[in-house]
Amino acid sequence: MNILAFGKDGQLGKAFQNLFQKVPLASENNIQYIGRNQCDLSHAIALNNLLNTSKPDLIINAAAYTAVDKAETEYELAFAINAKAPEIMAQYATKHGSTLLHYSTDYVFDGSKDGPYIEDDHRKPINMYGKSKAAGEEAIVNVFTNCSAGQYAIFRTSWVYGDGANFIRTILRLAKEREELKVICDQYGVPTNAGWLAQVSLDLVLDLQDNLRKFTSGIYHAVPSGKTSWHELAALVVQTARDANIALKLKPHDIQSILAAQYPVVAPGSANSCLDNSKLRLALEESGDMSKLQHWNKAWEKEVQSYVAGLSRDGLI
Ligand SMILES: NC(=O)c1ccc[n+]([C@@H]2O[C@H](COP(=O)([O-])OP(=O)(O)OC[C@H]3O[C@@H](n4cnc5c(N)ncnc54)[C@H](OP(=O)(O)O)[C@@H]3O)[C@@H](O)[C@H]2O)c1
Repeated sequence: MNILAFGKDGQLGKAFQNLFQKVPLASENNIQYIGRNQCDLSHAIALNNLLNTSKPDLIINAAAYTAVDKAETEYELAFAINAKAPEIMAQYATKHGSTLLHYSTDYVFDGSKDGPYIEDDHRKPINMYGKSKAAGEEAIVNVFTNCSAGQYAIFRTSWVYGDGANFIRTILRLAKEREELKVICDQYGVPTNAGWLAQVSLDLVLDLQDNLRKFTSGIYHAVPSGKTSWHELAALVVQTARDANIALKLKPHDIQSILAAQYPVVAPGSANSCLDNSKLRLALEESGDMSKLQHWNKAWEKEVQSYVAGLSRDGLI
C-alpha cells in the first residue's frame, strides 16, 4: 500500500509520524510525508502531479490553513488549501479507488446549538476559516456522491494539542511570565490529543494486519468524551504544571474568567464547540475488534495531564 500523508510539520502530521514509528507498518507499505516544501497545497497543478506520480492507496490530509484570524483577510488562500486541495484529493481517490482521510473542525457550526453537535447538523460557519473548512467538507462529499470507487472519512475535531503551537502551550508560556491572566469562560468544547486523533483515524480504516478495510464513508466526530471551558482547561494545565514542580508565576485561582464578548478577536469563536462522538465509537464497535475501543477509555483530563507532564520531562515548559 502507498500512503501519502500531508501536513508533515503540523501537530497532527507529526502525530502520524510518531505513530508509524512506534508501530511500523509491514515493509510492503510505503509512506511519504509531505510538507509545504514538497508540495504547496495552494498549487493545484503541483498537487495533481504529486498524486499522479505517488499513486497513493491511502491519502491522509493532515494539512490545513489553520490561522483562524488571518483567514479573515487571506480567505482566498484559506479556500485554496482547505477547500480546493481536498477536492483534488477526493477526485483522485474516486478515480483510482483510494481512501481519503481528511480533517475538519467544530468551526463549521455557529455554536448556537443547545447540546453537542451531531454529524448531520446543518453547517453554519461564522468566520472565514470555518467557511473554508465547510467548503472542503462539501467538496469531498460532492465528489464522492454517486461514485462507487474509493472511500473517505472526514474527521471533525476540536481544540487539538500535540507537537506544535496550541492553547495549552500558550497558557504555560504566559503562566511563566504573568501573575494574572484572563481566560474565556463561556466557550465550551473538549481538547483533543493529536496522537489520539491519529490513532482513532487509523482504527477506523485499517484492520489488525494494517490492511485497508471497508468502512462507511462519511463525516465522523473524532473527539474524546467530555466538556470543559477554556478557563477550566487553563486552570487544569497550570495546576498540573505546578504539581510537576514547574516554576510558574501564575496560580490557578489567579486566572480570571472573562466572557467571550469582552475579549477582542478578529474572527469570532464558537460558544459551543461540543461534538457528539457516538457515531465513530459505534463504527469502531461494529468493526468487531474491541481493542480499538481501548483508546476511548482515557479521560480527556488525564490526556491533558500526561501531555503537560511530557512537556515538562522534555524541558519544553
Ligand atoms: N489545531 C486545532 O485546534 C484544530 C481544531 C479543529 C480542527 N483542526 C483541524 O485538524 C487538522 C490538523 O490540524 P493541526 O493542529 O495539526 O494544524 P497545524 O499544526 O496548523 O498544521 C497544519 C499543517 O498544514 C501545513 N500547511 C499549511 N498550508 C500549507 C500549504 N499551502 N501547503 C502545504 N502544507 C500546508 C502547515 O505547514 P507549515 O508547517 O509549513 O506551516 C502545517 O504543517 C486540520 O485540518 C485542522 O483544520 C485543528
